[in-house]
Amino acid sequence: MVAKATVDSAEGASQSLRNGSLNALFELGEHPVDESPKLKVAVIGAGISGITAGILLPIKVPGIQLTILEKNADVGGTWLENSYPGVRCDIPAHVYQSTFEPNIGWTEEYAQGNEIRDYWQRVARKYGVYERLRVNTKVIAAEWAKEAAQWRLMLEDVAAARTYSEDFDVVIAAIGRFNAWKLPEYPGIESYSGRLRHASNWDPDFDPQGKSVAVIGNGASGIQVVANLQKIVSRLDHYARSPTWIAGSFAGEGEGRKLEPLYYSPETLRSFEDPAVYLEFRKKFEGKFYGRFETILRDSEGNKKLREEFKTSMAERTKDKPELLEHILPDFSPNCRRLTPGPGYLEALAQPNVNFIRTPIAEFRTDGIVTTDGVVRKVEAVICCTGANTDMLPPFPITVPGTGSLQDAWTPDPYTYMGVATPSFPNLVFIQGPNGTGYSGTVPNQIETQTTYIAVLLRKVASQRVKTFAPSKAATDDFVAYSDAFFARTVWTEGCRSWANGGRPGARIHGHWPGSASHLNFVRRNPRWEDWEWTYKSETQNRFAYFGNGRTSKESPLDGADPPPDLVKYLKRPDEIDLRIYHEEWFDV
Ligand SMILES: Cc1cc2nc3c(=O)[nH]c(=O)nc-3n(C[C@H](O)[C@H](O)[C@H](O)COP(=O)(O)OP(=O)(O)OC[C@H]3O[C@@H](n4cnc5c(N)ncnc54)[C@H](O)[C@@H]3O)c2cc1C
Ligand SMILES: NC(=O)c1ccc[n+]([C@@H]2O[C@H](COP(=O)([O-])OP(=O)(O)OC[C@H]3O[C@@H](n4cnc5c(N)ncnc54)[C@H](OP(=O)(O)O)[C@@H]3O)[C@@H](O)[C@H]2O)c1
Repeated sequence: MVAKATVDSAEGASQSLRNGSLNALFELGEHPVDESPKLKVAVIGAGISGITAGILLPIKVPGIQLTILEKNADVGGTWLENSYPGVRCDIPAHVYQSTFEPNIGWTEEYAQGNEIRDYWQRVARKYGVYERLRVNTKVIAAEWAKEAAQWRLMLEDVAAARTYSEDFDVVIAAIGRFNAWKLPEYPGIESYSGRLRHASNWDPDFDPQGKSVAVIGNGASGIQVVANLQKIVSRLDHYARSPTWIAGSFAGEGEGRKLEPLYYSPETLRSFEDPAVYLEFRKKFEGKFYGRFETILRDSEGNKKLREEFKTSMAERTKDKPELLEHILPDFSPNCRRLTPGPGYLEALAQPNVNFIRTPIAEFRTDGIVTTDGVVRKVEAVICCTGANTDMLPPFPITVPGTGSLQDAWTPDPYTYMGVATPSFPNLVFIQGPNGTGYSGTVPNQIETQTTYIAVLLRKVASQRVKTFAPSKAATDDFVAYSDAFFARTVWTEGCRSWANGGRPGARIHGHWPGSASHLNFVRRNPRWEDWEWTYKSETQNRFAYFGNGRTSKESPLDGADPPPDLVKYLKRPDEIDLRIYHEEWFDV
């Protein structure tokens, strides 16, 4: 029987083919070569990554049946969940937007969180993302079913408090790097009777005006929260266990920026209405974010220059409390942790109502916090800006029977092929996964190019009737070896604690791509299919089974079709032909 001869690995398939047993059973499929069976794909998460996938994949992958599963009640991810005082992008909004849906109407240079949220919801609406979206749906487990070659997702309907399961051919995890936020684990924290919140879980009913408040953490969130709360609270205790560099800006833009909003003038906004003017503005501005990559290299002139620049500007900004500087200036180089411009932060630290506390926290009491030197500081509220799961482990089990869990495979460090997939975890890909994003450039552009890479992969899977795909271990090991050699040249592997190294100074870097954003965009252009292992839907495992009946679908109704199908799409006006991409567009056949 044919079914008995089915093989479940590429190696098994080629072995069988070599001895000819399966090819003896081969019969032509009665379908045109370009007719793809439906590919049922789930995207987990509807932040910028999920929204971008919801736009690009249906256009780029014929035959895809896409569902976006989102635990929240709406799309937006980071920008839906974070509403703490002062939340805004710290790179300019004209750079932190979809590259194909630019917004000439940003009101401020560094837009506030709700303007960013509204923008992405508008983009999602315009491109039909909501039609593919299932909200209030939390993925609580994923298990691979080998026979069916599908992922079984356990889903929780958050609104109705019920669970159910659904099967998908491919799963794309777009769950965000900073979504699984967590409170610190200090003795006594559960007995604290004041207002205790993580910044990503801001309580809109809490009015900090005139209160004594502790803010734990000096990452980008803590820096924004301190700068904004200092002005309205009676006392602010800022617990910062590591020193940090405070940048003027990321790319030399907005130098000398203050806490106050930077509104665009009506004249500037009007000038953006001219598409040529706006494009020139965007190209200049966005281009800056691809520069300065040299500054991540150890002992580079660029990095030394940053150190001097930042030292000078930090001294100037703390001149009202000069003793602060020695506590906040790091030994490690700028860029080891992600830079933060922090407008208003150092100025806030220099105010008399702020205590800057580097002594580690020992425990919580019902009414405050005790540091390891025995000092007790009572506060009415504690805001934890303590970040998220820096190990990057997905917060729900992902299991392949016989292999184990992804969580185990990623311990002590995430193990991926180019940040996209992991060996032995078939039909599972990541957007913004470990090592998947270049440090320079912009997050929206990186998400778009990564989604495009995945689209090319899925187009192959759908059109060539692939049953399972996963990167090989050999290719993944080579990628890891390259990465580690590259990271050793960078300041990221110096002695700082950051989400890029899992909070372990000097440990492996899993937060960044080993190279610049331009390097990554170059690499992603041409997928290396030889690094992947494939099995096919055909029971014979003949890789050419998808060739079908020897025709394309357009040719089948050729006789008598009115109008006749365009079988010569390649014919264009010669002056419109770009020979560099001529005969390479996937949709022109
Ligand atoms: C406060 C804050 C400010 C930031 N500012 C900047 C900035 O200025 N510039 C910059 O470049 N980057 C910034 N970032 C980083 C930011 O997270 C990314 O730029 C980008 O928004 C990430 O988008 P994403 O879709 O990958 O992830 P997210 O926005 O985190 O979205 C992930 C989505 O997945 C959903 N999800 C997670 N788990 C599940 C599950 N089990 N089931 C169903 N759904 C699930 C979540 O609900 C969420 O909607 C900031 C991050 C934070 C936290
Ligand atoms: N637009 C923006 O301005 C903006 C705002 C927020 C976030 N972001 C993005 O999101 C990323 C994450 O930012 P984040 O601030 O949420 O997290 P983060 O950069 O990881 O910072 C977390 C902070 O909490 C501290 N911390 C963690 N656990 C602690 C504990 N148990 N006790 C005391 N301190 C503890 C960390 O100290 P150590 O350093 O000592 O570990 C660090 O200072 C940023 O790098 C950025 O990419 C951007």
